Amino acid sequence: MAYQNLISEVKENILYVTINREKALNALNKDTLAELADVIAYAGKTEEVRGVILTGTGEKAFVAGADIKEFSEYNGKQGEELAKRGQDEVFNAIENSPKPFIAAVNGFALGGGLELAMACHIRIASDNAKLGLPEVTLGLIPGYGGTQRLTQLVGKGKAIEMITTANMITAAEAEKIGLVNHVVPPTDLISKAEEILNLVKQRAPLAVSAAIKAIIASVNNDNGYTTEIEAFGRCFETADFKEGVSAFVEKRKANFSGH
Ligand code: HXC
Repeated sequence: MAYQNLISEVKENILYVTINREKALNALNKDTLAELADVIAYAGKTEEVRGVILTGTGEKAFVAGADIKEFSEYNGKQGEELAKRGQDEVFNAIENSPKPFIAAVNGFALGGGLELAMACHIRIASDNAKLGLPEVTLGLIPGYGGTQRLTQLVGKGKAIEMITTANMITAAEAEKIGLVNHVVPPTDLISKAEEILNLVKQRAPLAVSAAIKAIIASVNNDNGYTTEIEAFGRCFETADFKEGVSAFVEKRKANFSGH
């Protein structure tokens, strides 16, 4: 797929998406958000794609936030529309995707950049990454789900401290409070994400999607137990359930079709 602000390619069933605005530290302008919405929809509907790795170009930044230069003319209604549209088309779209998304946080993940990483299902950070939600330094608050997802990931006290002080934290601190899953040297960042997706790729795709959906229902207070029960039942209707059980009984490796 040809985009202006993203590099995207599928290799061995993994979709690699790189936000490519290095001079602006990969800040999310409107065009980048529209392209992200497109590539997220593509990932969701393309059977070949079994997982997504999202990162930023260069060694300095994953994403340094929403593009501040686009904000200056906004009024309240436009601000609300910006947040709603972004949440619907990009941030919630990632979280609700049937495909697992891993954020490979290769540097600054600030404001909308950290919100983007938090919308992903798993976060890996390079050891030089810095993470924060500095919106209050601009007279704003997080608008792409940051107040909700940071609280879910690190708890109320840490979330209030990070958001109200606007302090950036190191990758090591982020790992300590559960904001990122792993911290690795920059050279190992993508291979660590691949290592995880290569395991996920061996599992039954519909079961993987169903499990993520039930977990997300839990954190969003959206009838998690009922979601789990219904999704559990649907798993029995899949060809992959039959394949998984047959493979176990026949003592061989399962070969899942995703159906
Ligand atoms: C637009 C940005 C940008 C951003 C950096 N740049 N962040 N442009 N929007 N969010 C641009 C700079 O203007 C500069 O371009 C170039 O990238 C390099 O940045 P510098 O500031 O010169 O680099 P450095 O001194 O190393 O500082 C790095 C930094 C700083 C600490 C990451 O750039 C910074 O604080 N950026 C803003 C972070 C932030 O506040 N993010 C939250 C945004 S609000 P020029 O052309 O000037 O050289 C948000 C709201 C989300 O995300 C919710 C919306 C609904």
